Amino acid sequence: MTNFLFVLIVFFLFYDCSKAFDHWTVAETWPAGFCSAIPCNAGKAKLRKFTIHGLWPSNYTNPQPRTCSSQVLQISEIAAIESELKQDWPDYFGNDLKFWSRQWIDHGSCSNMKPFDFFNLALDIYRRNNLTAILENAGISPGGEYPINDFISAISTSIGVKPQINKAFDHWTVAETWPAGFCSAIPCNAGKAKLRKFTIHGLWPSNYTNPQPRTCSSQVLQISEIAAIESELKQDWPDYFGNDLKFWSRQWIDHGSCSNMKPFDFFNLALDIYRRNNLTAILENAGISPGGEYPINDFISAISTSIGVKPQIKCSRQYPNHLVEIRLCLNTKNIPQFINCATGSGCKPELLFLQ
Ligand SMILES: *[C@@H]1O[C@H](CO)[C@@H](O)[C@H](O)[C@H]1NC(C)=O
Ligand SMILES: *[C@@H]1O[C@H](CO)[C@@H](O)[C@H](O)[C@H]1NC(C)=O
Ligand SMILES: *[C@@H]1O[C@H](CO)[C@@H](O)[C@H](O)[C@H]1NC(C)=O
Ligand SMILES: *[C@@H]1O[C@H](CO)[C@@H](O)[C@H](O)[C@H]1NC(C)=O
Repeated sequence: MTNFLFVLIVFFLFYDCSKAFDHWTVAETWPAGFCSAIPCNAGKAKLRKFTIHGLWPSNYTNPQPRTCSSQVLQISEIAAIESELKQDWPDYFGNDLKFWSRQWIDHGSCSNMKPFDFFNLALDIYRRNNLTAILENAGISPGGEYPINDFISAISTSIGVKPQINKAFDHWTVAETWPAGFCSAIPCNAGKAKLRKFTIHGLWPSNYTNPQPRTCSSQVLQISEIAAIESELKQDWPDYFGNDLKFWSRQWIDHGSCSNMKPFDFFNLALDIYRRNNLTAILENAGISPGGEYPINDFISAISTSIGVKPQIKCSRQYPNHLVEIRLCLNTKNIPQFINCATGSGCKPELLFLQ
């Protein structure tokens, strides 16, 4: 995960020129960090400098401005700076124009600027402060491992403001909800409350110590990005209030945005982990059936016998004897492996497994 530390450094710049957003965010990516998680164009992965990811009109409070017009970027509009953009704002998958077009639609269209001025402003901000050189001058070199505070202080010493750094996390938590338990405290869509299987609540980049990673970017989930697995998600990751896309979008912003993954890979990883271990079947095979009441330790031992690690069991705050959720923890290897979760649950010793 050390490589991930480098992924993104974000500056907040304070401008006072527009009503629609209250600050700009410029994101610069470290190629080897980004490409350690995602297969990149080989030449790009070898670049030894930060490159521009984007210049984002930003809001201190949500919603973040996004896709303010559908005005497609014409390459002729930025022809005069195309060679600079190719150098400093390259697409890591080899399709620069596609990358710029996407950044233009998603973010530039909210800038109240013309494409040339928008892209030129990003280049200008990028050049005004050479992050690669700032870190180098502070003795922070590629290949090393450093406290995150060394990055922050090198940059604040040089530029005078604190950057946001997309940080690593030390494990994953996958949360699976038991519908009847969840819906005993909260009014759910009737069909969902009757499901007789655990469903995915979320896949959360997690930290053993606080703060927990959360809302690492404002990149809105587009349904097209997960269209290929939408029907699986509808089955296994449904919203109990009937608005699947809203639920997934929220999970993406709150948690997925910290995963250093693309939406498809993130949602697919969750499905993969979910399918690798069928909690419903594991409990059934241990004689734990919906409608019964069992000691919490029976749930824990059924799962540790089957998977080899301890889960975390969560109960309803309102009804601490209703089983609501089972959480499993995984390490951050390329193919994540199950590890013990921290204990502590807010549950009574005897639990109703509602049906
Ligand atoms: C910025 O946030 C405010 C709420 O704080 C919201 O009214 C406004 O629409 C947001 N701006 C954009 C462009 O989304
Ligand atoms: C930024 O600094 C690096 C390292 O000192 C240097 O190789 C690179 O040319 C600089 N880039 C610009 C645009 O000045
Ligand atoms: C994880 O916890 C450490 C403190 O132990 C903190 O420095 C770091 O910022 C946290 N990571 C995230 C992504 O919040
Ligand atoms: C999980 O197990 C339950 C109960 O045995 C079964 O009905 C269900 O089809 C299984 N789900 C998957 C995805 O294998």
